[in-house]
Amino acid sequence: MAKSKKSWEKRLAGEPDRLTVDFVESLSVDRRLYKYDIVGSIGHAEMLAEQKLITRAEFKEIKKALLEIAEEIADGRFKFDKTLEDIHMAIEAALVKKTGEVGKKLHTGRSRNDQVAADIRLWMRDEIETLQAKVTLLQKAFVKSAGKYAEDVMPGYTHLQRAQPIVIAAYLLSFVEQFERDFIRLGNCRELLNISPLGSGAIAGSTLAIDRESTSRKLGFGGVSRNSIDAVSDRDFCVEFIFDCALIATHLSRLAEDWIIYSTSEFGFLSIDERYCTSSSMMPQKRNCDVLELIRGKTARVYGSLLGMLTVLKGQPTGYNRDLQEDKVHIFAASDTVSQSLDVARAVVAGSRFNRKKISASLDEGFLDATALAEYLVVKGVAFRDAHGIVGSLVAYCEKQGKKLAELGLDELRRYSASIKKDVYESIGAANVAGRYITEGAAGPGEAKKQIAYWQKRLGR
Ligand code: ARG
Repeated sequence: MAKSKKSWEKRLAGEPDRLTVDFVESLSVDRRLYKYDIVGSIGHAEMLAEQKLITRAEFKEIKKALLEIAEEIADGRFKFDKTLEDIHMAIEAALVKKTGEVGKKLHTGRSRNDQVAADIRLWMRDEIETLQAKVTLLQKAFVKSAGKYAEDVMPGYTHLQRAQPIVIAAYLLSFVEQFERDFIRLGNCRELLNISPLGSGAIAGSTLAIDRESTSRKLGFGGVSRNSIDAVSDRDFCVEFIFDCALIATHLSRLAEDWIIYSTSEFGFLSIDERYCTSSSMMPQKRNCDVLELIRGKTARVYGSLLGMLTVLKGQPTGYNRDLQEDKVHIFAASDTVSQSLDVARAVVAGSRFNRKKISASLDEGFLDATALAEYLVVKGVAFRDAHGIVGSLVAYCEKQGKKLAELGLDELRRYSASIKKDVYESIGAANVAGRYITEGAAGPGEAKKQIAYWQKRLGR
């Protein structure tokens, strides 16, 4: 062989320019696929042996060498050479170095185009399981915390204005729901991506008797792709995966925003474990929850990856194009960011305390019980729209008097509606109201406890 390390360079006039080498290489990014590349190659080689395209002895030699290479990469002994472009070529070159003529047979009936498509799918399958496990741990942290605050009432907000009383547990469990959908979405993504593109070759398949079902089975795929042209260029699953990550990031950012606000001295609802806080280089009194701000901030990266991935695909001509190599930058960035944010969020949730005293001290601010008073009137036979108006007027009156609804005397209340009776005081006051919700899924203690029991059973403690 000439100076060139790559067989296909026989087609080209000489060595590529240094600019080209640096520009086209993906080894710095895709080396983390090495395990999947090796597993995929072993499956492919075994199939080649079954099909008598190589001998059983050759397969064994290839397998042994590939496993050695995996070990060398795992313990940092492997020398990555970016002139080899990507992890697929790096491993193949090492294989040929170890086994000579035998190694040269591995790429029979295969292209890097179907190879990389398979590798990404194998990687993503595992990555999804890891992310799902992290989502579950975060959910468990929420459920555990909810168990401590099943009876404690806090204001529920709409438009970030005090709305109706809720128990803290119900608030916490609202996040468990969001992350449950994320968990399911990831599972759906895994299900859909789990098909084998191997055997599709560069675009058109092969004239050799490649047994696609066999490699698919060996690699744990649920089936083989139907169309070779689509199989080498399909990255829809990458978009879906990043979208799922983006929605996790969205949910995390909402949590982060709430808790940044709740832990201010203005709110004082929440104390976040100081291990997750930082201070200021100038202001000695500061205790900032920078990790939450960064969870919020890093969401941008994931959204960026989503748009990046979509844009890589937009307008590509049919078939494999090298643009697709950029997929990995985006799927890795999205996954790494979300993975780290999930870990941090779990730690923050597990290490935070709600300040019951502070929350309950201001619970009767903001007329959280106004809606419940209107509903009281409905029970007494007043049409809701009229009840709404009556309570609106009562609230305006209270504001003028500097009073809360529950502080009004019965005579004052009855000036606005004769339907109000002595029993009204059981139906107003934020703490009373939270205990009176009866609809399924409501934010009171009874329903929250049911949900806690449901999640404990579903997720395990
Ligand atoms: N490094 C490439 C990628 O990640 C592998 C496929 C390259 N194929 C090709 N014909 N140039 O997409």
